Amino acid sequence: MSPSHKGAPPDCAIVIFGANGDLTKRLIVPALYNLARTGMLPEKMTLIGVDHNDKTSAQWRDGLRDFLAQSLAKSGAAIDQALWDKVSRSMIFLRGDFEKEGTYKDLGDLIAKADKEQSLGGNVLFYLAVADRFFATIAAKLGEAGLVAQKDGFRRLIVEKPFGHDLESAKKLNSCLLKYLKEDQIYRIDHFLGKETVQNIMALRFANGLFEPIWNRDRIDHVQITVAENIGTEGRGNFYEKTGALRDMVPNHLFQLVAMTAMEPPVSFDAEDIRAKKAEMFKAVHPLTLGDVVRGQYDSGVVAEKPVAAYRKEENVVPDSNVETFVAMRLLIDNWRWAGVPFYLRTGKRLAARSSEIAIRFKRAPHALFRETLVEELDADWLILRIQPDESIRLRFNAKRPGPAMALESVAMEFKYKDWFRQAPSVGYETLIYDCLIGDATLFQRADQVEAAWGVVEPVLTGWANTAPRHFPNYNAGTEGPSAANDLLARDGRSWRTIK
Ligand code: BG6
Repeated sequence: MSPSHKGAPPDCAIVIFGANGDLTKRLIVPALYNLARTGMLPEKMTLIGVDHNDKTSAQWRDGLRDFLAQSLAKSGAAIDQALWDKVSRSMIFLRGDFEKEGTYKDLGDLIAKADKEQSLGGNVLFYLAVADRFFATIAAKLGEAGLVAQKDGFRRLIVEKPFGHDLESAKKLNSCLLKYLKEDQIYRIDHFLGKETVQNIMALRFANGLFEPIWNRDRIDHVQITVAENIGTEGRGNFYEKTGALRDMVPNHLFQLVAMTAMEPPVSFDAEDIRAKKAEMFKAVHPLTLGDVVRGQYDSGVVAEKPVAAYRKEENVVPDSNVETFVAMRLLIDNWRWAGVPFYLRTGKRLAARSSEIAIRFKRAPHALFRETLVEELDADWLILRIQPDESIRLRFNAKRPGPAMALESVAMEFKYKDWFRQAPSVGYETLIYDCLIGDATLFQRADQVEAAWGVVEPVLTGWANTAPRHFPNYNAGTEGPSAANDLLARDGRSWRTIK
């Protein structure tokens, strides 16, 4: 999140490993196109795509253009040729095996040529849009070929998710990368941090005098963070069978939401200050036990009025799979601000709706004043930060219903992003790529954060690996998840908000 708009980033070459992949066509190239619209692309830029298949540069470029045109057409827009020209003015496809040295020799030659012809200042951004099994190999080969050594300009590396699949593998990957690059050259993406609503949590908390004084255990009863999806595995059965809901969503996306909500105020918007506060927060998380966590797997059911199959019937999923598609947990943060305030987290596939929110529940007002009235119980106040869809911030509080009697009703004030701001077309990667180009690492994860997050879920991963779930599948598609998730809150005398 660049603290101020800094205009066009420095001229550079962008090298995308995985040039023919989904991420490149669905997110990276459309994000570059959107950046061109706001003048936030480098004045001079060469885009080099590396992948296994045989393709000419023209075929690569035209394929990407066609895909972009089709996606724009879905929202009734046409491709703007002038903008596309800015992205595609210099596009080179390199066929190469990620594991062979020859690829890096050829790549080095291409980079040197482009740099010489266009005076790119020696700047190169490498984007690893590939399966995670290639991360360490590519970094090592780039390092051995001398391509990430910073002499004149910058050499940076963007690494996508998943960053490891447990604490040990994350540490191993970090040490592989850090053998060839310095920490400030590595940009570990968590695409949730590219969402405006997530970035706005810091503005809400720290740019207003109103919220921070009540943002603590004196006033807050508990916090509920929900990232619910109604989609299934979407043809990614192979990936999901190895991953599951916990690894896929919790140590990364959900924990980023926890960190934004729970971190202490940083002294500045400097990346290191902010990341240090997040890392500090993770250190305060109370070790999880299996009793704090619930897992679920969906059975068949009905989603958006259509019948859908059970997880075990999905493509590339084994018929007796024990992989979880839902997880809920109770997290405690042992520090002065949050001691005694549970953070309840849940995420899952094939739930009732696509709905992500952070809901902060305040403590109830004392009832005594209303004892002689019709009011039996006071509703608690809620502040709901709606991440997606229908991005908004909503405050629920009690108001007197008009009329002679003292009767209360819970009412709401709401700020909707779309009512206030004209939103520029975005795929959610624009800010992340721009920030990397200008060298602002605020929205990227540092090695210690990634390891701390895996450290928190490690006891659960180990515990689950040793005990098969007893009642899988345990929730129907299109519902709010397994009943055990409700029990988790009921034990504390609380209940989940409805997923809608
Ligand atoms: C990805 C997960 O990281 O995030 C997917 O691998 C999940 O399983 C996706 O569907 C959710 O992201 P978004 O931006 O669509 O909410």
